[in-house]
Amino acid sequence: MNRGRFISIEGGEGAGKSTSIAFIQTFLLQQGIELLSTREPGGTEIAEKIRALLLEHHQEKVDPYAELLLMFAARRQHVSQVIEPALAQGKWVLCDRFTDASYAYQGYGRQLPMAFIDELARWVHGDTNPDCTFLLDLDIEVGMGRARQRNALDRIESEQMSFFAAVRQGYLSRAAAEPGRFRVIDASQDIAGVEAQLQGVLEAMI
Ligand code: TMP
Repeated sequence: MNRGRFISIEGGEGAGKSTSIAFIQTFLLQQGIELLSTREPGGTEIAEKIRALLLEHHQEKVDPYAELLLMFAARRQHVSQVIEPALAQGKWVLCDRFTDASYAYQGYGRQLPMAFIDELARWVHGDTNPDCTFLLDLDIEVGMGRARQRNALDRIESEQMSFFAAVRQGYLSRAAAEPGRFRVIDASQDIAGVEAQLQGVLEAMI
């Protein structure tokens, strides 16, 4: 059986990932592709508990390395229990964030060493990497404005604007370094424009 394709979707807060995910799900379903849609941190019972721990507000300061290691603990559980089995069964996997988020948020945002993240990625998921990554790129003021309207800000969404600026630059640097895998989408366009771009890439993948 052919291995499924692995697609991830990334972007800053309020960039419109949910709308794009809904479109990708519907489009691939129409094409008769069996798709597993999941998210990080999360995607399994244990990884969702780690997600709650990571996103809640705490009195105690969260050490940046502890944050990174928890992201990768959740990821290991998710890859081994959900992502790998699905790909092996020929299903396509659509993941709302993956390791690029650890580089952007913990590497660029928290300024942890990239070499350490490289090592973790290698140990935790080896060759299981997305075939295609959509990066929804948006001005951080616009994105945070949307995020603030949505609901109460979680622990990471409560960071300073300088943190989100570093995250955005981090994502764009990663996209520039791997143009074959990344598809950068201008998320300031209207929904129809974003969907047309997503559809073009998916058609080429099929
Ligand atoms: P979201 O998926 O609902 O946007 O929330 C997940 C939050 O966790 C978001 O602020 C990005 C952050 N995050 C990291 O900091 N590192 C990671 O590796 C992942 C997957 C997410």
